[in-house]
Amino acid sequence: MKKLIVFMVGLVAVMTLAACGRGQVHIGIVLPTNEEPRWVQDEQRFRDLLDETSYNVEILFSEGSSATERSNVESLIAQGIDVLIITAHDGGAAAAAVELAKAEGITVIAYDRLITDTDAVDYYVTFDSVAVGEAQAQYLVDQAEGTGNPLYLYAGAASDNNAFLFFEGAWNILQPKIADGTFYVVNSSQAVALQDQAELTRDQMANIIGQITTDWNFNTAMNLADAHLTNASAADKGDVFILAPNDGTARAIANTFEDDTEITSYLITGQDAEIASIQYIIDGRQSMTVLKDVRVLVQEAFNMAINVLEGNTIETTGSYHNGEIDVPSVQAEVLVVDQDNVIEAIIESGYWDEDEFELE
Ligand code: GAL
Repeated sequence: MKKLIVFMVGLVAVMTLAACGRGQVHIGIVLPTNEEPRWVQDEQRFRDLLDETSYNVEILFSEGSSATERSNVESLIAQGIDVLIITAHDGGAAAAAVELAKAEGITVIAYDRLITDTDAVDYYVTFDSVAVGEAQAQYLVDQAEGTGNPLYLYAGAASDNNAFLFFEGAWNILQPKIADGTFYVVNSSQAVALQDQAELTRDQMANIIGQITTDWNFNTAMNLADAHLTNASAADKGDVFILAPNDGTARAIANTFEDDTEITSYLITGQDAEIASIQYIIDGRQSMTVLKDVRVLVQEAFNMAINVLEGNTIETTGSYHNGEIDVPSVQAEVLVVDQDNVIEAIIESGYWDEDEFELE
């Protein structure tokens, strides 16, 4: 026993020294995965801000795992952070991790994805996700002529609250156009069963999302699209419309539809303005994307964190209910990008460098 105590005291001393050597970390940032360009971009855009501050910032990725996410949070707590900026891998599972931080008096900022069913979230910095879904759906509606157009629906991961917000936005615009016969849904019996209902409950959305979820995963999206096309009749093909929730899944689904000889043309949505999807838009393989200017979001989150550290008042503009509390929020706007404005919105604006692309 005595030996154990001596060992533990020694261990604590070593850990403290290690912490002192590197200095206290003031702001901890936890991002869900570096396997998706979206979050690698957020990391880079956060790093671009670090020169502006003398505060110590540490950025960790959770490898798409709630367990890794929790140990990331624990490690940041041990390094003395005062503010945690976190994009949850799974918005429900992350509650336990942020409760640990909250118990240490750390201010918790949910970044892009809301953490649900807990009172341990202080602020939410996000894009207008309902507007993202509305913009995607509006794009499809604007290009559809006549009636009886086949519509394929896809959604994000059910563990991500944003998947519900995107779908809610899309449903707001698509439902009246399904009800009036402009579109019919090919690939979700749940959506068909609910097509006369303008507003869906969370459970109803979960039922639809359960049938059309990509899990935000390229391969899942590809396999799902493949299964849908295998089941579809010739009449469900021809000129089709596809609601894809983000760029990664849009490219996977687009590739699959391109390979089907019975598909004459397809319109497909996306979001994130990922470099690969901007190239797809230039080449006419993806119809649109929704630009969520990550530079704006990182700046908002960073300013908020600094204000917390300096004891300033925190300005918020709205709130999101997370199932337990109303979380005060700051919200950034989004922009539709397609072939008509891609050069101006993405390249001339300096969002991505021209060298990234092959322009015709
Ligand atoms: C969402 C996020 C999107 C997209 C997706 C997949 O929560 O808002 O921008 O990247 O996750 O990671």
